[in-house]
Amino acid sequence: MNLFDVYPLNNVTIVRAVGSTVWDENDQPYLDMYGGHAVISIGHTHPHWVQRIEEQLKKIAFYSNSIIIPLQKELAEKLGKISGKEDYQLFLCNSGAEANENALKLASFYNGRKKIIAFGKAFHGRTSLAVSATDNRNYIAPVNETDNVVFLPFNDEAALQQYFDQHGHEVSSVIIEGIQGVGGINVATTEFMQLIRRLCDKHGAVFIADSVQCGYGRTGRFFSHDYADVNADIYSMAKGMGNGFPVAGIIIAPHIKPKHFQLGTTFGGNHLACAAALAVLEVMEEENLMDNATKMGNYLMEELKKTEPLKNIRGRGLMIGFDVPEEIGTLRKNLLNNQKIFTGMANPNVIRVLPSLALQKSDADKFLKAIKLEIEHLKN
Ligand SMILES: Cc1ncc(COP(=O)(O)O)c(C=O)c1O
Repeated sequence: MNLFDVYPLNNVTIVRAVGSTVWDENDQPYLDMYGGHAVISIGHTHPHWVQRIEEQLKKIAFYSNSIIIPLQKELAEKLGKISGKEDYQLFLCNSGAEANENALKLASFYNGRKKIIAFGKAFHGRTSLAVSATDNRNYIAPVNETDNVVFLPFNDEAALQQYFDQHGHEVSSVIIEGIQGVGGINVATTEFMQLIRRLCDKHGAVFIADSVQCGYGRTGRFFSHDYADVNADIYSMAKGMGNGFPVAGIIIAPHIKPKHFQLGTTFGGNHLACAAALAVLEVMEEENLMDNATKMGNYLMEELKKTEPLKNIRGRGLMIGFDVPEEIGTLRKNLLNNQKIFTGMANPNVIRVLPSLALQKSDADKFLKAIKLEIEHLKN
């Protein structure tokens, strides 16, 4: 049987990893400034994470959600404390798309409405509603096409105000990434997020903060939406939550009450997933990783801003993007092939930097030096 070929692949096979370094089958090390697509939060194979999963595996890996799983409660309490959302409620699932799917569905159950507002360049996942709210025609199959999703321009306060003035009573939810990831590291402005909050309050709509990529401490605050000083009604989360173990969830504000069977899952919140997620939060706390993300992020941004001819250095914490001018257009490929450094791409001209939140200064310096070297090569 062949694999279903859905991605263009780098010709690299990774066989082991520690912290921010991964090795291929020939023992060649690579610096991981991509975090496996923003997934590696506390560092590859962190010993505490490995131990927590190993110990849990020996006890029990899975039983269905028809019984009490105390690890879920433990996770909810720890997550509430670290995120500062102690009065929210946790629903666990398995992926970012599934988290957004549940968030959009729950909002519709809550206010009985159908219209979803999403924004230009948004990416919310590949499942039915999540992909309908994703602004890329190539990902939307005919069966996912729906009039229930309206796309407005990102950070355009006037367009949002006008839509709510005309159709506010129909809007079920507004979904927004605090920093667009796949769309190219575009930061939502404080004013825009505060306007979403006010309009949702006025019209009875639900504010959904897609924190799948920009959440879980990556920007230096637990949710990047926190920078705007607003509380969303639902936050979705995934990537960094399990440091590579598949676990995701939504946290739901107290005014949205649960009803039996509206949401459900077979695998979500299983014993092993909870152990992995708890290990991540324990390490984040123990090693002050959100502070490290701020410190390392600020350092990288300052240095990248001084690096000609990179343009539009943007982002927050360890979620950084910059434009690569045409003259050095192969920079990302060169970083991988010559310098053995993984970075991410948003469109052919944007490089995304999404390393582990535990990134060391020595690794940041290695990355900066490698960029300068490759720029020199490409210019000459
Ligand atoms: C902002 C955002 N939301 C949702 C998703 C979908 O997550 P998953 O691939 O885990 O379904 C992604 C994945 O890249 C994302 O970046």
